[in-house]
Amino acid sequence: MRKNMVVAIDGYSSCGKSTLAKALAKTLDFIYIDSGAMYRAITLYFIRNQVDLNDFKAVDDALRSIELNFHSKDYESHITLNNDEVSEEIRLMHVSDKVSEVSAIKEVRLEMVKQQQRMGRSKNIVMDGRDIGTAVFPDAQVKFFMTADPGIRAQRRHKEMQDKGETQITLEEVFDSLAHRDYADTTRVESPLVRAEDAIVLDNTDLSPKEQLDFALTMVHRHMPV
Ligand code: DC
Repeated sequence: MRKNMVVAIDGYSSCGKSTLAKALAKTLDFIYIDSGAMYRAITLYFIRNQVDLNDFKAVDDALRSIELNFHSKDYESHITLNNDEVSEEIRLMHVSDKVSEVSAIKEVRLEMVKQQQRMGRSKNIVMDGRDIGTAVFPDAQVKFFMTADPGIRAQRRHKEMQDKGETQITLEEVFDSLAHRDYADTTRVESPLVRAEDAIVLDNTDLSPKEQLDFALTMVHRHMPV
């Protein structure tokens, strides 16, 4: 039985996992770890260095050359790739479009899961992703599986991108990109996105961030050791 507390949040792309995870971590004073950012940073490295995804040795060499680190600033989680701050760049469309392909590679997953498990060995954490409650921390005390209507998810993501100045991308393109990632994430051979049997389903199509946080906090407190 683990002594530190792990809250695992899995779910589809752009359904508010990180918003809830950050709010939970801030309220509970836990560490927030965005596992998707790790897959995105690896993908960025592969793009920058033109790593051939079919070349086993090239992938392996690349994985050995990558060092990822998280640091927290103003309650936001930032990630560095070999000491280069890449938190913004990993959100751009060219990375989003390739990340499912990279995260389907077995060796990539093995390395990421190993690093994620190390991060959650002794501290209280909230980690979000696709396989946190199933492969990374099957013994997490609380697991959420988040979902929301695909059209609503695309609208939210499109607005986020517009607010950041990525104005040339249409709502349809965002919808298609999400649909593509949902399909790839749920059908891949290695740790596909599935709901852990003991995960609490949270459909936030009609819920405000505050309603989601209140619900999640109630669930976490219910599972906290006394
Ligand atoms: O959460 P996100 O959209 O930033 O994740 C980016 C991609 O990384 C997502 O399409 C699937 C992959 N991913 C994964 O395979 N396993 C995780 N634990 C987290 C993300």
